[in-house]
Amino acid sequence: MLVNSKKMLKKAKKDNQVVFQFNINNLEWTKCILEECDKLKVPVILGVSESAVKYMGGFNVVASLCFSLITDLNIKTDVCLHLDHGSSVESCIKAIDAGFNSVMIDMSKLPIEENIKITKEVVAIAKNNDVSVEAEIGAMGKIQNGGVESGTNTNLEDAILFIKETKVDSLAPAVGTVHGIYKGELNIDYSLIKKLAANLETPLVLHGGSGLSLDILRKCRDAGITKININSDIQDAWSKNVKEYLNENKEEIDPRKIIGSGFEAIKEVVASKININK
Ligand code: 13P
Repeated sequence: MLVNSKKMLKKAKKDNQVVFQFNINNLEWTKCILEECDKLKVPVILGVSESAVKYMGGFNVVASLCFSLITDLNIKTDVCLHLDHGSSVESCIKAIDAGFNSVMIDMSKLPIEENIKITKEVVAIAKNNDVSVEAEIGAMGKIQNGGVESGTNTNLEDAILFIKETKVDSLAPAVGTVHGIYKGELNIDYSLIKKLAANLETPLVLHGGSGLSLDILRKCRDAGITKININSDIQDAWSKNVKEYLNENKEEIDPRKIIGSGFEAIKEVVASKININK
């Protein structure tokens, strides 16, 4: 069933569980993730970045692709279609109009007052459409030359003010993770996660979930994270398998066989992350 993320995250938070957002790139990604989550009977958030929306053809294409797969594959588990890192109010409106159940408005680069102002605009529109809203404050670190350049972790007072003013449904704080595949160690601030969780009822989201061991993901959950976003780990596993397949099958031209050679890898990553809830 298609749902927004509110109930999913509320239940997960109460049960000290994590809901995963797996990012999608195309029909095949979506199909594999839906099939695996349905098999494992776990709710899932399908994250779609603006560049993935552009790649697939537009918000309506993404929405109809997801909705049609849910119908034709008879997916029974709860599914939330979510815009990841929406960069403007207009982009969130386009997603909502196309039928997305959830949007992220990411104004984390702006001063907190402006972030609050724009996030409030999105919340007002989303609430009228039964759509959930995620926002981000603080500055996540970045990958530089394969290593990690640290950002500025979220400040507790800012987080309290932000939630009071915007009433978003979930909050992505900067706690030391980065997006993508990196070399070296991350310095995750578990005590900050604990402090945020102790002071806020709003579910907390961990961006940059790839490259973290299952133990670290569990530690983040136990500190107070309710949603974890995974993108690069799936891309990495899929592309490694496809490269290997092509090396062994140099004459193959059937795209279904080439693309499909990475399906099991996608499903394995999804299943292994979900395992932390057991
Ligand atoms: P990773 O690519 O590190 O998994 O990050 C995904 C993410 O946070 C999407 O918003």
